[in-house]
Amino acid sequence: MSPIRIGIIGCGFAGCMHGIAYQPHIDSGDVELVAACDIDEECAAKMAKEYNMGAHCANWQDLITNKNVDAVSIALPHYLHAQVAIAAAKAGKHVLCEKPMATTLEDCDKMINAAKDSKVKLMIAETYRFMPTMVKIKEIIDSGKIGEVFFARGSECLNEVPNICDAGSWHCTPDKAGGGAWFDAGVHICSAFRYTLGDVDSVRAGLLEHIALKEKEDDNAIVLLKFKKGAVGEAFLSETIGSPPFIRFEFYGTEGTILMDTDWDEPIKFFSSKGENPSEEWEKPVVEHLPMPQFYALSFREEVKEFVESIRENREPKYRGEEGKAAVEMALMGVLSSKLGRAVDIKDLYSSAARKLGIK
Ligand SMILES: NC(=O)c1ccc[n+]([C@@H]2O[C@H](COP(=O)([O-])OP(=O)(O)OC[C@H]3O[C@@H](n4cnc5c(N)ncnc54)[C@H](O)[C@@H]3O)[C@@H](O)[C@H]2O)c1
Repeated sequence: MSPIRIGIIGCGFAGCMHGIAYQPHIDSGDVELVAACDIDEECAAKMAKEYNMGAHCANWQDLITNKNVDAVSIALPHYLHAQVAIAAAKAGKHVLCEKPMATTLEDCDKMINAAKDSKVKLMIAETYRFMPTMVKIKEIIDSGKIGEVFFARGSECLNEVPNICDAGSWHCTPDKAGGGAWFDAGVHICSAFRYTLGDVDSVRAGLLEHIALKEKEDDNAIVLLKFKKGAVGEAFLSETIGSPPFIRFEFYGTEGTILMDTDWDEPIKFFSSKGENPSEEWEKPVVEHLPMPQFYALSFREEVKEFVESIRENREPKYRGEEGKAAVEMALMGVLSSKLGRAVDIKDLYSSAARKLGIK
C-alpha cells in the first residue's frame, strides 16, 4: 500500500505536535507529509522544510484542493474547524480535526454528514481519550475490580494566563474559541468521563469564574455531571494556577478506588476490595508515562496512530465525529447550566431557551 499523503493545516502548537506524532509512520513508510498550511506562511514554510514536504501555503483552500493530499490534520482555532473539515471531506480527504470538534452542535452535524456523504474518515483529535493512563483506567473499571463507579473527579490545572490575556490571541476570544476555558479544555474531561463512565444525564455548572479574563470568558470552572449509569463526576478546570501544571483523576467505586496523577512517577494506583483476592496495598499498574508537559506527546502519538491505522485498515476510527459531538454537547450543557443557574439535560440543550442564549 502506498503511503497516506497528509497535509497539516495550522502549524502552531498542536500542528507541530501532529507533525512529531506522524514521524514514526513516516519512518515506517505508512505516511508522507506532503503539505503544510498556515495563514502565517513563514510558519507553514518552516514546517514544510522540517518534514521535507513538497508544498506549503497560507490559504487552506489551496491545501484541500491539492490532488497530492489524501488526508488532513486540522489544528486551527476552533471557529475554523467546521468550515475547513467540511470542505476537506467534500474534497475527498480523510479528516483528523482537533478538539473541540466545532463551536456549535449544528456544525458538528454538518461535519459528520459531510464525511459520511464523501465516505471519508472523520476523527476528532481528543488527546484524553488516547492517554495511555486513561486507557488503563478504563481497562480497570471495565474489569469490575473497583465495582460500580459512583463518584469521579477530573482536574486539569494549568497556567495559561500569558496566552489567554494576549489581546492578539484567539484563545478565550469567544467568537474564535467558541467559549472560555471550560469549552476549550472542559471537552477533554468530558471525553475522558464519557469514555470511562458512559453517557451523561445532566450537567450543573457550579462555577465558571473569571480570574484573569475578567468580564470576558470563564478561565476556571467547576462542573458536576450526572451519568446515566448513576455516577456523579466533578470536572475541575483552572487556567490560572500559581504552581506547575498537573492533570489528576479519581474514580471511586463500590469495591475500590483508582487515583491518577501526572506528578507521580507511577501515575496510576488502584485499590480493589473485591472478591477472594482483594488488594493488600495500592496496586500500581505498569503504564507508559512522561511528566508534564511531555505527557501530552504520548496522547498525540496515540491519536495520530489511531487515525493512520483507521485509514490503512479502512475502518471507523475509535473517536469519530459522533464522540467529538457528544463531548461538545456535554461542554455546552455546562455553559447552558451556568447561564440558567440550574442543572440541564440534553432536552434543555436542544430547546428554544438554549437557542435564545446562542447555543445551537
Ligand atoms: N489536545 C491538546 O492537548 C491540545 C493542545 C493545544 C491545542 N489543541 C487544539 O489544537 C487547535 C489549535 O490550537 P493551538 O494551541 O495549536 O493554536 P495555535 O494558535 O498555536 O495554532 C493555530 C495556528 O493556526 C493558524 N491559523 C489561524 N487562522 C488560520 C487560517 N485562516 N488559515 C490557516 N492557518 C490559520 C495560526 O497562524 C496558528 O499558527 C485547537 O483546536 C486547540 O484546542 C489541543
